[in-house]
Amino acid sequence: MAVSTRRLRATCLLLAALLGCALASADAVTPPHLRKQGSATQLIVDDQPFLLLGGELHNSSASSLEYLNKLWPTLKAAEVNTVLAPVEWDQIEPVEGRFDFTVLDGMLKQARAHNTRLVLLWFGAWKNSMSTYAPAWVKKDTQRFPRARTRAGVAQEILTPFAPATLAADTAAFRALLAHLKQTDTQHTVLMIQVENEIGMLPEVRDYSAAANEAWRAPAPAALTAYLAAHKDTLQPALKAAWEARGARLSGTWAEVFGDTIETEEIFQAWHYAQFVEALTAAGKAVYPLPMYVNVALNRPGKRPGEYPSAGPLPHLFDVWKPGAPSVDVIAIDTYFPNFIHWAKQFKRPDNPLFIPEANHAERPDAGADAFYAIGEHDAFGFSPFAIDDIKDGNSSLPQAYRLLKQLAPVINRYQGSGKVRGFKAPLSYEGEVDAAPQQVRMGGYAVQVSFNAPWEKLSSAEVQTRGGLIIQTGDDEFLVAGKGLTVVFSADGAQVGIEQAIEGLDQNGRWLNGDETHQGRHINLPGDAYTIQRVKLYRYR
Ligand code: DGJ
Repeated sequence: MAVSTRRLRATCLLLAALLGCALASADAVTPPHLRKQGSATQLIVDDQPFLLLGGELHNSSASSLEYLNKLWPTLKAAEVNTVLAPVEWDQIEPVEGRFDFTVLDGMLKQARAHNTRLVLLWFGAWKNSMSTYAPAWVKKDTQRFPRARTRAGVAQEILTPFAPATLAADTAAFRALLAHLKQTDTQHTVLMIQVENEIGMLPEVRDYSAAANEAWRAPAPAALTAYLAAHKDTLQPALKAAWEARGARLSGTWAEVFGDTIETEEIFQAWHYAQFVEALTAAGKAVYPLPMYVNVALNRPGKRPGEYPSAGPLPHLFDVWKPGAPSVDVIAIDTYFPNFIHWAKQFKRPDNPLFIPEANHAERPDAGADAFYAIGEHDAFGFSPFAIDDIKDGNSSLPQAYRLLKQLAPVINRYQGSGKVRGFKAPLSYEGEVDAAPQQVRMGGYAVQVSFNAPWEKLSSAEVQTRGGLIIQTGDDEFLVAGKGLTVVFSADGAQVGIEQAIEGLDQNGRWLNGDETHQGRHINLPGDAYTIQRVKLYRYR
């Protein structure tokens, strides 16, 4: 008896020690965060780089757990590893100071049951310029939470950013959300937080409420002018021109520093939005420091400030938002225009990684090619088209691309930021015209030409547009070529280049591609009807 009690105690001690170790190692996993690797920024989840292959739900899909629950077969068919879903201020704080996280908790539970991560979109004070997600106790109390006004003084369904009470209320709710996540999401289902949604002023360039007008007459902030002076060689051209035309002043009113123009009014409004977001983000991070980003609605060509959602973190205002909201990790791009490449390039900067929370709708036939391009060419750590609930089955472009990108993710994660990854897609103009010309890049000792059609193919522009892929240089003479509908010719200075071997897929059992499949050794060809991978070894001869 005494022996078995001792044994029991020993077993218990061992179990406790093991359990303790297990708990300690769970604790040791750091929360999701961003980390630099060369020129790339990676999202680190459970201490590993995580390529976010996401999709954003329609705005109201996650507001009902019953409704959301029915979407999971679709989300699984879409092959997403992460769902972007709103958290609504009016739903979590229906009464001031009383929080209800039932829907959020249910969403986390559903996501975990389907082995899917979440990015939460904080629909707080602003969602697409408007303030419709503010709770009724905020909306109805216009004394305490004043509205933005037009130049003519008409109140809008837009909260002014110039009201400390609004910032305090939004911040209290945001902090409560993050405190709840910190306490309950020990599994790190939630990877990042989007702060508000597509902030931007409409129908006029800025708020003309009394508080806003007072701020307009005040000096431009030294934090902004000091940033401009420190970054004068890399400033966005229009902002730089306006500032330098007035003598690159470090002080003065907004109009004195940038000119009395509608563009200056946009800069002014952008600064104040950014400062609001900064306070909110910093307060949220102080509770639970998840990566946080803002997203932006792009402006159409030829439109003037006030004719598009103005003063959001648009490229021409990066130099206002960066110093105005330094706690924001990423300015992310929502791209609904055909000229995706034109815009994506502008968001990859030394101080800003590329992340696309809302690419044009998920069912588009070129969604997959855009994902390959963004990840391959600009080290995007994530891609996520809008309306992921609309995916019909696993055969459309996005799920096909995601299936392959999931296989490739360990290799992509390894090489991101090293300069050894390139992405390819035919660029489209804003009007949707496709530039199908072959693209040339240098990779190590090779010149690489990528065409979007094989020599014998006659394709429509619509077909060319669906093609895209990436190439990773994995050794001096070795490349991984992946995607759909690419024809790749390698050449080198002073020697002819031959294909030593091309093997399909990433494992050992793939076909050895030769003969017709390499056009008798002339090129690597990724067929146009599916996403595939080839491991290629080259040799040189004279
Ligand atoms: C952009 C917004 O950010 C989304 O929430 C959604 O409203 C889409 N537009 C609709 O196209």
